[in-house]
Amino acid sequence: MSVPAVVLNNGVEIPQLGFGVFQVDPEATKEATLTALDVGYRHIDTAQMYGNERGVGEAVKASGLAREDVFVTSKLDNDVHAPDDALKAFDRSLDELGFDYLDLFLIHWPMPWIDVDYVDTWNALEEIYASGRARAIGVSNFHEHHLRRLLDEADVVPAVNQIEIHPYMSQDELRTVDAEHGIATQAWSPIAQGLVLDNPVIAEIAAAIDKTPAQVVLRWHLQRGDIVFPKSVTRSRVEENLAVFDFELTAHDMASVSGLNADRRLGPDPDQTS
Ligand SMILES: NC(=O)c1ccc[n+]([C@@H]2O[C@H](COP(=O)([O-])OP(=O)(O)OC[C@H]3O[C@@H](n4cnc5c(N)ncnc54)[C@H](OP(=O)(O)O)[C@@H]3O)[C@@H](O)[C@H]2O)c1
Repeated sequence: MSVPAVVLNNGVEIPQLGFGVFQVDPEATKEATLTALDVGYRHIDTAQMYGNERGVGEAVKASGLAREDVFVTSKLDNDVHAPDDALKAFDRSLDELGFDYLDLFLIHWPMPWIDVDYVDTWNALEEIYASGRARAIGVSNFHEHHLRRLLDEADVVPAVNQIEIHPYMSQDELRTVDAEHGIATQAWSPIAQGLVLDNPVIAEIAAAIDKTPAQVVLRWHLQRGDIVFPKSVTRSRVEENLAVFDFELTAHDMASVSGLNADRRLGPDPDQTS
């Protein structure tokens, strides 16, 4: 199953569909990631906050794949935004993973209420990028007004903005802002952690084309152009989630799924502490 690549604003290519490891037990992460690599995934999304970078790195090594054949993203934790702390935390990520570079490194949350300005944190990521130890840098959970500050005050335009997107939270406005600035949009919790799968509109489309609800939702994301990394610790689902490149949703089906938007977040609003 060949996964198309998205070309980021610095020319780096990222597989449009990857494997997320949020809430995968650190002890189970090596095995889960190895399963994904065995099934054919070549893009893994982890974070310092998940506590499972080590398992991801061990799996990449154990897979026998060349390091450059797997695209790995990690994210800066919320309590290390001070620039010196961020630089050290990045080094710790490389140590945990056992890598000498990351493909993509993100600020996980903007944290506008702490006493460190995320523009200063971004400057630390720019330093990491300049050193060549991250092939691309980006942000996560940035609203338009956070992005504007980086665009106005910093040098490097983020390669990606990783935000909550699924049929109940379609984020059309922010995706447009990202696109206007050459920032690729990554959709986290793409199947809303399973919440959207029993929606009757999605179930009806799935039944009509003999696909599963998860495949319909993932296909909706891919046809919108977003980058996704569904998580599963169940091998059959890991296979199912990758088997989405041999069919297309019609414009009518795309509109029906988009019509489910209710601006309903599963996670916190990035501007609010809880
Ligand atoms: N940047 C951020 O702030 C942020 C926040 C959240 C997530 N993320 C990233 O986005 C990734 C994906 O999001 P997520 O893990 O929150 O949720 P998700 O991928 O939308 O959903 C995962 C859940 O759906 C189940 N599932 C997976 N495939 C399925 C299928 N084909 N049929 C039925 N159920 C299925 C999984 O169960 P089993 O595992 O039991 O099979 C798991 O409970 C994360 O792993 C992480 O990398 C980033």
